[in-house]
Amino acid sequence: MGVSVVTPTYREADNIRPLAERIRTTMEAAGVDWELILADDDSRDGSEEVALELGRSLPVRLHVRRARPRDLSQSVLDGIRLARFDRLVVMDADLSHPPEQIPELLAALDGDAGMALGSRYAPGGRIVGAWSRYRTLNSRIATWLTRPLTRCADPMSGFFAVDRRHLPGPDELAPIGYKIALELIVRGRLRVREVAIRFRDRQRGASKLNWRQQVAFLRHLHRLYTFRFGLPVRMLSFGAVGLSGLVVDTAVYLGLQLTGVGHLLARFLSFWPAVTWNWRLNRLLTFNDRPADRPVPQWAKFAVASGVGLLTNVGSYAVLTSFVAPFTERTLLALFAGVVIGSAVNFATSTRFVYPQRRTEE
Ligand code: GDD
Ligand code: MN
Repeated sequence: MGVSVVTPTYREADNIRPLAERIRTTMEAAGVDWELILADDDSRDGSEEVALELGRSLPVRLHVRRARPRDLSQSVLDGIRLARFDRLVVMDADLSHPPEQIPELLAALDGDAGMALGSRYAPGGRIVGAWSRYRTLNSRIATWLTRPLTRCADPMSGFFAVDRRHLPGPDELAPIGYKIALELIVRGRLRVREVAIRFRDRQRGASKLNWRQQVAFLRHLHRLYTFRFGLPVRMLSFGAVGLSGLVVDTAVYLGLQLTGVGHLLARFLSFWPAVTWNWRLNRLLTFNDRPADRPVPQWAKFAVASGVGLLTNVGSYAVLTSFVAPFTERTLLALFAGVVIGSAVNFATSTRFVYPQRRTEE
């Protein structure tokens, strides 16, 4: 039984050859059939030439993804689709992940494990080479944020082995950014066995991790939390966005009055930036697992939902304070009740009509 090694690459021309050589040495010593699939994101740095050249003497295959924006996770999924063998190893091209440990990963995959994960933080794992204090802290915080999703010590690792037959189908996956292992663990509900690895900082080429990737990671996390915990996470997110919108609303309302606008007009005007703010954030966070509709009609629907929510809010306040015993005395309580009822209506209409699921999913 062979193994397909899938490596996402972006501008790794100098690293491809040593990577392929070390995999070859390791797999020949282990007596395992292998192939290396380079899932390249249109690097244009000579990687393609090196890969084709290697392909003449070794089982090295090149897949070039030309779609923009470039996307590590999608590249890996493409590579997995093309693989000849069911047993797969995913690893970085920059030699951070020692190819010599592939057999250990494969051994750990035998039995009932759905994934063997190369782990820097499992007992015996190491990071060789200087990592800046910033990068260490960053990695620790990111790992800590995944705690409710998985108990793995190092779910951020990009070095792992899986059996294709245990993976969820492509329709069930929706990764954003770099953390393809985390995506597979959470959505595939994989049982993970961790293998301590010696992680070595890259010697050649530059890391592609930047702040964009970090924002993408937070959005990915939010999506996975919604997947795992569903409605409560969505409601919390919607509530938090609503509170932030209240800040925008108040700031604009006060700001306009400073410039001499009357308070009624200011009240009417400040609603719009706040609605726009909420619509955008809910699209980015609360409903980021839902298909992205055309912005303008969606914004209009959200404005209507918010208007209905506001009317329900004020309407409930009026009804409660006029007719319902405890509230006739306690008007502040009625105000809060109104906010809750109005938000619930807004949430329900948003879920159903503004950011709906694809029809096939219903
Ligand atoms: N196809 C493709 N597209 N490949 C990419 C892209 C991209 O947009 N960006 C990076 N890569 C490739 C790189 O060429 C390398 O092989 C691998 O993905 C990792 O990229 P690095 O730039 O070396 O990232 P890193 O070292 O900061 O992060 C890696 O190591 C971390 C620690 O194990 C990633 O594997 C992280 O997921 C991992 O947490
Ligand atoms: Mn790296």
